[in-house]
Amino acid sequence: MTVEKNRRILLRSRPVGLPKSSDYEMVEEEVPEPGPGQIVIRNKFISLDPAIRGWMDESEDSYLPPIKLGEAVKAVTVGEVVKTANPAYAEGDLVMGIHGWEDYSVSQGESQSTKIAADTGVSPSLFLGVLGSTGLTAYFGLLDVGRPNAGEVVLVSGAAGAVGSIVGQIAKIKGCKAYGIAGSKKKIRWITEELGFDGAINYKTCGDMTEAIRAMCPDGVDIYFDNVGGEILDAALMNLRERARIVMCGAISTYNVKEPQPGPYNLWQLLVKSARIEGFLIRNYADRFPEGAVQMAEWINQGRIKYKEEIIDGLENAPDAFLKLFTGENEGKLVIRP
Ligand SMILES: NC(=O)c1ccc[n+]([C@@H]2O[C@H](COP(=O)([O-])OP(=O)(O)OC[C@H]3O[C@@H](n4cnc5c(N)ncnc54)[C@H](OP(=O)(O)O)[C@@H]3O)[C@@H](O)[C@H]2O)c1
Repeated sequence: MTVEKNRRILLRSRPVGLPKSSDYEMVEEEVPEPGPGQIVIRNKFISLDPAIRGWMDESEDSYLPPIKLGEAVKAVTVGEVVKTANPAYAEGDLVMGIHGWEDYSVSQGESQSTKIAADTGVSPSLFLGVLGSTGLTAYFGLLDVGRPNAGEVVLVSGAAGAVGSIVGQIAKIKGCKAYGIAGSKKKIRWITEELGFDGAINYKTCGDMTEAIRAMCPDGVDIYFDNVGGEILDAALMNLRERARIVMCGAISTYNVKEPQPGPYNLWQLLVKSARIEGFLIRNYADRFPEGAVQMAEWINQGRIKYKEEIIDGLENAPDAFLKLFTGENEGKLVIRP
C-alpha cells in the first residue's frame, strides 16, 4: 500500500531576475494534521499569477508579506477540505484562498479560506480564472476605477492575457471601442477576430509604441487599463484624451528587473489632459465577489465573454510553467492541477 505524501515546492532563495530551478526545492512530507481552528485542504487547482513573483522578493512594502525562505510558494488555490478542526468547515467542502504550491495546505480557516459552492456545474478551476479573482480584476478594475461610458475608447495592455482579454470584452459590452496591446501575431488575431476587439498592436514588432497607439486610436484613449507598466505605460500616457482614466492594475514588465527602473517619464500628461491614474487591488473587492461572479457567469452563458484556460498537470511543473507568464507563452489563465 502506498502512503500518501505531501509534495511541496519551497522557496529556497530569493530570485534575482527570472526565477531559476535552484530557487526552489521540492520536498515530500507527511500529510499534515490540523491544529485547533485549522483545516487541511487537498489542493485541486493552483493559480499561477504574475503577482507571485513579487511575493518572492524580500520587500515588506507590498500588500502581502514576502514568502519566507523555506516556506511553500504562496498561491491562490481551490481545494477540498480533507481534515477539519474547525466547526465552520466539513470534510468535502470546496474552498478557495491563498494556500501554496503543495498537495495539501494547512489553513487558518475563515481568515484564509472562503467556501465556494461545490454544485455549480462548472470546473472549480474557473474560480481561479474568469469567475474568480482574475475575471473580477477585469470587471471591477474597468467598471469601478475606469468607469467607462458608451462610445469611449478603452486601451488595454497584456490584452490577450487572463485579465486583459476580459477587460476588452467587458468594454465592448459597455458600448466602448476596445483596443489591445499584446506580444504575438496569434494573440492579436485571437483578440480581434474572436473576442471582438476593434484593433490591436503587437508591441514587439510595431516600432515606436507612441506612434503605433496614435495610429490605432487617432482621437486618443479615454481609459488605459495598464497590466504591464514600463515603456508601454509611457506610450499610453502620450495618447490620453481629456479626463482620461488610467487603471493601474499591474506592471509585469518590471517584475523581474534586477535594478530599480526609471520612469514613467510622461506622467506630466496627467495634468495636460486633466487625467487620473488610480491603483487597483482585487483583494479590496472581496465583499463584492458574488455580485461580479453572477454578472460574469451571465455574460459567459450568453456567449458574450469568452476565455482561455491553460491547465498543466503535475505540481513539479509549477516552476517552469510559472515562467510562461513572463515569456508570454501562456494561453489565457494558467493553472496547475497538482
Ligand atoms: N491589481 C490586481 O489586483 C491584479 C489582479 C490580478 C492580476 N493583476 C496584474 O494583471 C496583469 C496581468 O495578469 P494575468 O494574470 O492576466 O497574466 P496574463 O496576462 O495571463 O499573463 C501575463 C502576460 O503578460 C505579458 N507580458 C509578460 N512580460 C511582459 C513585458 N515585459 N511587457 C509586456 N507584456 C508582458 C505576456 O503577454 P504578451 O505575449 O502579450 O507579452 C504574458 O502572457 C499582471 O501585471 C498582474 O500582476 C493585478
